[in-house]
Formats: sequence, structure tokens, C-alpha cells
Amino acid sequence: MSNFFNSSIGKKLIMSISGLFLIMFLLVHLTANLFLLGGSDVFNLSAHFMDSNIIIQIMQPILALGFFLHILYSLIVQFHNWKSRPVKYAKVNQKEASTWVSRNMIWLGVFVFAFLFIHIINFFWVLKFGEPGTVMVNGEEMEDAYTLVTGLFTSGGVLAYIYSGIYIIGFIALGLHLHHALWSAFQTIGWSNIKWRKILTVIGDMFAILIAVGFSIIPIYFLFIK
Ligand code: HEM
Repeated sequence: MSNFFNSSIGKKLIMSISGLFLIMFLLVHLTANLFLLGGSDVFNLSAHFMDSNIIIQIMQPILALGFFLHILYSLIVQFHNWKSRPVKYAKVNQKEASTWVSRNMIWLGVFVFAFLFIHIINFFWVLKFGEPGTVMVNGEEMEDAYTLVTGLFTSGGVLAYIYSGIYIIGFIALGLHLHHALWSAFQTIGWSNIKWRKILTVIGDMFAILIAVGFSIIPIYFLFIK
């Protein structure tokens, strides 16, 4: 069994399964964050519900493990590839055989990771270990996650533009990463043949656009419209 997980296909399988799990997280996270557009009470109630929900509490360490495995195995696979191919293919062959995105998945992943690091410090850290403000909603006191999140994009100064820029570039990098990742994951777990290839590529692209555009709407809305 341990031989399987050390094999090239075993490592890719772990990356695919953890990646598909992260994709589900992204859908739930996007849905929860779009409640921001509904205003303070709506978002704070949904954040409070997520925070006090036992299923979400159980899922959080599993999510952290998913991120950890996905990043660890992508680094292992990438270093293995670099080691086994010290001499680069001629530029022209490389371009014919693959797309820019597929060749730069590791760098897009590194960029998304850098975004994630900043993002966790911005919100998760403050809500879990800092002292976020509180607010009364329907007679119940809860953390004011709305003011914390929207404050990052609406503080008015140059920092709001910098953070919005970092977030939007992060979402575009994530969208490009997903554009290749979904198709690649389906291929690894064997859901891909000539007939399905086109359909899965379209589904992957639609999902990548949904994630990049869906998340970007949030900083754009608070920076320019609200
Ligand atoms: C504008 C877009 C986004 C907003 C407003 C946002 C907001 C938040 C907030 C408020 C939290 C803290 C939740 C809590 O602890 O109660 C959080 C946590 C988190 N976010 Fe985001 N997020 C955004 C985009 C993303 C993206 C694109 C990713 C993934 C690449 C991501 C990954 C995470 C992770 C891993 C956590 C910690 C786990 C959790 O609390 O669920 N977020 N986010």
C-alpha cells in the first residue's frame, strides 16, 4: 500500500482527491461570502451559523489536512519532475505539447498559497485568535465579521486598493490553476476518455470562471459600488 502512495500515480491520485475536496470547499466558501452583498445582518448571521455549526467545525481540520496534502504532494511531484528532467525540452516542443498554464501550475499554486497566507491573517486569524468587534443581530451578540471583511476593501486609503488588487490577482491565479487542475484530476481518476474530454474541459473552464469572477465581485463591489 505504501508503495502505491509513493508511486507516481499514487501521488497524483492524492493530489486529485485532495484537490477535488478543495474545490467543494471553494463552492461553499464562495456561497457563504456572497452573503456579504446582502448586508451586515445577513452576512453576520451566516458567519455565526457556520462558526457554531458542528459539521463545519469537524470539516475545518479535514480542510486543513486537504490543503496540507495537496501542497505537499504537488511539491514532491514537481521536484521529482525537475530531478528526472534536468535538461529542459526545446522551447518549441514544450509549447506544442502543453499550455502555458499546465507548464506553470506550480507557480500559480505558489501564488495562490501566498494569497492564502495573507488571507488567513486578514480574517481567520483575527476571528479565531484576535479581538474582532461584536454586533447585536436579532437580539443575539455575535462577532462582526462583516465590518472586518468589508473594512479591508473599503477603508478608503491606498491600502484598500492594494488589498483588492492582491485578492483579485489571487482569484485570477486560482481560476487559471483550476482551469487545468479539474481536467487533470478527472484524467488521473480515470473519468476521461475522448467522448468526455470535451465536456469535462468545458465544465472545468466554467467552474474556473465562476470561482475567479464570483470571488472578484466582492472586492470590486465594496471598492467601487457600495
Ligand atoms: C473576496 C473573497 C473572500 C472572502 C471575502 C473570504 C472571507 C473569509 C472569511 C471571513 C474567513 C474566516 C471565516 C471564519 O473563520 O469564520 C475566511 C477563511 C478562509 N478562507 Fe476565505 N474568503 C475569500 C476568498 C477565499 C479564497 C479564494 C480561498 C481559497 C483559495 C479562501 C480560503 C480560505 C480558508 C482556507 C479559510 C480558513 C478556513 C475557514 O475559516 O473556512 N478564501 N475567508
